[in-house]
Amino acid sequence: MSVSKHSAGYSRAQVILHWVVAALILFQLLVHESMEMAWDARMEGGPAEGANPLPHIVVGSAILILAAIRLVIRLRHGAPPHPAGQPALLGVLANVVHGLIYVLLFAIPLSGLLAWFGGVEPAADVHSGPLRFALIALVIVHIVGALVQQFVLKSGVLMRMMKPES
Ligand code: HEM
Ligand code: HEM
Repeated sequence: MSVSKHSAGYSRAQVILHWVVAALILFQLLVHESMEMAWDARMEGGPAEGANPLPHIVVGSAILILAAIRLVIRLRHGAPPHPAGQPALLGVLANVVHGLIYVLLFAIPLSGLLAWFGGVEPAADVHSGPLRFALIALVIVHIVGALVQQFVLKSGVLMRMMKPES
């Protein structure tokens, strides 16, 4: 098993998991008020009136499980090689960004679980501070990269994450 294993294209499972995880991440980044209220109430020892942290916990844990499934498939199936003729540096950049996103797909839910179920306050600070902002920054770079590949370099990279290899 190797992260550099090459395949003809992304499999159906890889494509579906990519977009499902992307949608769930978006949800987590946008809908977190209830979790914050519940956490603040817990830290202050008061009642968490009207706050339901369950959706954040369930969706966040689902992301962790799906990331693990995704990583196993990625290691077994591989990924298509970078488009021919593009600067080598772009390929290296894509690998680094994908690798760091994978790390965060584990580190963010794990730090959240540690905070909530372990009562570890610094884990909450790391979760909602540096890890969250690193994910947002990397996803922005990732999306800009995908759009540049598709519309400026016209390498068809976006299509391979839309249409699985047949
Ligand atoms: C990839 C999955 C996750 C993402 C993207 C995510 C994202 C976020 C965001 C954006 C906040 C609000 C931070 C703020 O405005 O201060 C937050 C807070 C929080 N999340 Fe998550 N979360 C995820 C998974 C989880 C999981 C599985 C748990 C486990 C229970 C969890 C526990 C918490 C806690 C306790 C807070 C409150 C921390 C604070 O206010 O300092 N999160 N999360
Ligand atoms: C939170 C949102 C997202 C996350 C976490 C994410 C994560 C990833 C990861 C980890 C890969 C590497 C695939 C692998 O090796 O398994 C990937 C590939 C890809 N993503 Fe995303 N992605 C997100 C959103 C998007 C969006 C919005 C687009 C479209 C604009 C996009 C387009 C692509 C494309 C085209 C590839 C294939 C790149 C290639 O083969 O070189 N992603 N994504």
